[in-house]
Amino acid sequence: MNPQWYREFFEEMGIEYEDYPFTKNTENEVKWMIKEYLRDPAMKILDVGCGTGRHAISLATKGYRNITGIDLSLSMIKAAKEVAKRKNVQVDFRVCDARELPFINEFDAVLCLCEGAFGLLENDNENYKVLKAVHRSLRKHGIFILTTLNLFRDDKFDPMTCRFEFEEEMTQKDGQKKKIKCSDRSYTFPELKWVLEQHGFEVLLGANPFSKKKISYGSIEFMIVSEKS
Ligand SMILES: C[S@@+](CC[C@H](N)C(=O)[O-])C[C@H]1O[C@@H](n2cnc3c(N)ncnc32)[C@H](O)[C@@H]1O
Repeated sequence: MNPQWYREFFEEMGIEYEDYPFTKNTENEVKWMIKEYLRDPAMKILDVGCGTGRHAISLATKGYRNITGIDLSLSMIKAAKEVAKRKNVQVDFRVCDARELPFINEFDAVLCLCEGAFGLLENDNENYKVLKAVHRSLRKHGIFILTTLNLFRDDKFDPMTCRFEFEEEMTQKDGQKKKIKCSDRSYTFPELKWVLEQHGFEVLLGANPFSKKKISYGSIEFMIVSEKS
C-alpha cells in the first residue's frame, strides 16, 4: 500500500466526490455550525481539507465574506472553484498541505470536517502536524470544529494502530477503473480530547456530528469542538 494513498485517491476524484451519500447533508451541517459557533458572518473561517468546498461555499452563500478553503488536491480545489463561480460567491480556495498552513493567529474558526486531512495521513505524527498547523492559524480563543472517524463503529480495526484498511475502486479521468488501497485512523473521544489538550486546545464538546447528543456506538464519526487556549 502507498502510505500517501490519499494524494492519488482525491486527485482522481474531483466533483464526483459529491456523489457519496454522506455529502448530502451539507446545508443542515452548516446551519447547525452557524447556530452554535459561527454566528457572525464577519468571522474569518478556514476550511481545512475542504475538498469540493461544500461547507465553505454554503457559508459564502449565507453572506460569510471571509472564507478560505485549502486542500492538497488540485482536482478538488478546481472543482470547488468551479462550484463557487457557478454560485457566484467568493471563497479563497488554495492548494495547500494542511501540515504546512502559512497562517499565524489569523482565523476566528477552523473547520476540519469529514476527514479533511486529519485521520487520513500515514501515521499519528503526520496527523498531529495538522493539529499544530491549525493551532498556529487560529487566533487566541478561536474555535476548532473537527469531525473524525469513531473507533466504536465496528470491529475491523488493527488494534495496534486503530487504523482500518480498505480498497476502493475509482473511475479514472480516462474512464478506466482502478483499485486503490486506503487506510485511515479512527479515534475514541477520550484519546482525541487528550491529544487536543496536548496541542494547546481546550475541548468544549464531544458529540455525534452536528449535534449535542452523546457519542453513540455505531456512529461513523464524532465531532469534537475545541478552543485555542
Ligand atoms: C473526505 S474529503 C473531505 C472533504 C470535505 N472536508 C468534506 O467535508 O466533504 C478529505 C479531503 O482532505 C484532503 N486532504 C488529504 N490530505 C490532505 C493534506 N495533507 N492537506 C490538505 N488536504 C488534504 C483530500 O484531498 C480531500 O479533499
